[in-house]
Amino acid sequence: MSRFRKVGVVGLGTMGAGIAEVLARGELEVVGIEINEDALARGRGHLEASTGRAVKRSKLTGEAQREILGRITLSTDFQDVAGCDLVIEAVPERLELKRRVFAELDRVCRADAVLATNTSSLSVTEIAMTTNRPTAIVGVHFFNPAPVMKLVEVISTVLTDPEATAGVVALVEGLGKTPVSIGDRAGFVANRLLLPYLNQAVALYDSGHATREDIDAAMKLGTGLPMGPLTLSDMIGLDILLEAMEAIYTESRDLRHVPAPLLRRLVTAGLLGRKTGRGFYTYEKPGSAVVRDHAALPEAVEVERPLVGVVGSGDLAVGIIETCARAGAEVRFVAGDDTKVKAAWLALEDALEQSIAKGRIDELSKKAALERITGSPEIGRLVDCDLIIEAVAEDVSVKRSLFATIDDVAKAGAILVTTASAVPVIELAMATDRPAAVVGLHLPELPGKLAEVATTVVTSPEVAARAVALIGRLGLEVVRCRDRAGFIVDALRFPYLNDAARMLEAGYADADSIDAAMRLGCGYPAGPIAELDRLGLDRAVRVLRALYSEARQAALTPAPLLEEYLIAGRTLRS
Ligand code: 3HC
Repeated sequence: MSRFRKVGVVGLGTMGAGIAEVLARGELEVVGIEINEDALARGRGHLEASTGRAVKRSKLTGEAQREILGRITLSTDFQDVAGCDLVIEAVPERLELKRRVFAELDRVCRADAVLATNTSSLSVTEIAMTTNRPTAIVGVHFFNPAPVMKLVEVISTVLTDPEATAGVVALVEGLGKTPVSIGDRAGFVANRLLLPYLNQAVALYDSGHATREDIDAAMKLGTGLPMGPLTLSDMIGLDILLEAMEAIYTESRDLRHVPAPLLRRLVTAGLLGRKTGRGFYTYEKPGSAVVRDHAALPEAVEVERPLVGVVGSGDLAVGIIETCARAGAEVRFVAGDDTKVKAAWLALEDALEQSIAKGRIDELSKKAALERITGSPEIGRLVDCDLIIEAVAEDVSVKRSLFATIDDVAKAGAILVTTASAVPVIELAMATDRPAAVVGLHLPELPGKLAEVATTVVTSPEVAARAVALIGRLGLEVVRCRDRAGFIVDALRFPYLNDAARMLEAGYADADSIDAAMRLGCGYPAGPIAELDRLGLDRAVRVLRALYSEARQAALTPAPLLEEYLIAGRTLRS
């Protein structure tokens, strides 16, 4: 049972109002403070809209809503928090402003009251040192939207009284949230992992690598995130993201953490995201749904379902063959010899059996899929194929000579596709006499919904459009990008996973806390440490090396911990 009965919240913007709602739902008496009557009215509006939405969705009765709102007293007078056991500050992220708020709180609050800050980018220690009671200052970092996200980071400085921390931890647990206790470091756990990834997505968009829609769709469909990075940045607020990145960069001095130039331009222009009606996307009105704006989407091309050729017999090749055949395409696969062809057949039957076990298909669909597939060691069998997908092991010289051979046998008009992840697509395109007809393909998850198609500097626009259309006929959502290491998904997810491995290595937080932070704070389907184990440390190291060799940024070198565990043949959680 928490010792806090009456809690003050200073600042009733998106986060402050969300926190006040959470506290009131937890049956605490709440005092909400704003600077003037207008701001107070906006705060009241946030509270009514959020609880009203829950009533509309039948998650809350009208009576319960009235009770919740009835527990919150709104005021513009700091004196009204004098009787609070705990006060949580949630004002804009300016140290000067926070300093003034804490000076006031110091003055009016009881000597035994605990004062907390919801800062996401400032140092809790620095805030604590502006008060006369640094031992009573903690960080209590909620996530947006506060009523939904389960994580609360509880930050202790080197001065914080353990009893103050314990009190806040108990309060957070009592509210049905999950506290993660950590030390004071820029970005704490979740923001330190999330925000650099968002910043990188902004830079990727700014570089013209892919459209904002494709970047967002890639991360949602490719990795199961609840929101794409640009949509999420708009929701968080671009000003908040900018300030937090500045703070993280100041501490890390890692060039990847320098705020993306586009972020600064948008903030300067007052385009702060959903709250102002425009950021990366345009909204009907502040806080509402996205409206279609200027973004020109490429025109769709009508095509027949392709005859697909696949070269390879490993897991990736088998996954691709299965995906294509299940989508109704005829597939010819070519493996090194008869034994490999047989092994691929067995793996295919096994994969289809697993799909039945998972309820994705039935026995009849399995039979039909198998009837669409033929396998052979003869590369000449690919002569009629419209789309020829190379999915052999990541050996550059093998891939190069294979592409030259495919070029010899493929019909005119066929599109040649590589799944290479450790070498640029253009290197393989140049091994053929038809570089304009070569594209890259990544399927970040198998089985999965997403296909990333990368075009090179010489891919013809007709080939690009046809490739997208043909791959779309294989039951996949297609996003387009340029020929850069990692395409979209791997370029964004592996640096983030590497950061998590480095955080674990540094001992800042343990694997459970890191994973909980990303699952419960940001709605990730799995935490990064579990994700590294699932994807494989060999894959992580391979992709990171490719990313490093392109960008030469030290932070992209695989964390030594990854290499160590890989050599030891262990997973991070074993
Ligand atoms: N306030 C209150 N409740 C809300 C809400 C809001 N603003 N937005 C959504 N909800 C509730 C809905 O009422 C619904 O509840 P129900 O299931 O009980 O009916 C539930 O959340 C799901 O909402 P929707 O069905 O409308 O929408 P989604 O399923 O798309 O979920 C989301 C919306 C929960 C926001 C989800 O997209 C998500 O988890 N996104 C990731 C959010 C994230 O990463 N947050 C962390 C940002 S970083 C941060 O805050 C730290 C800061 O320091 C920068």
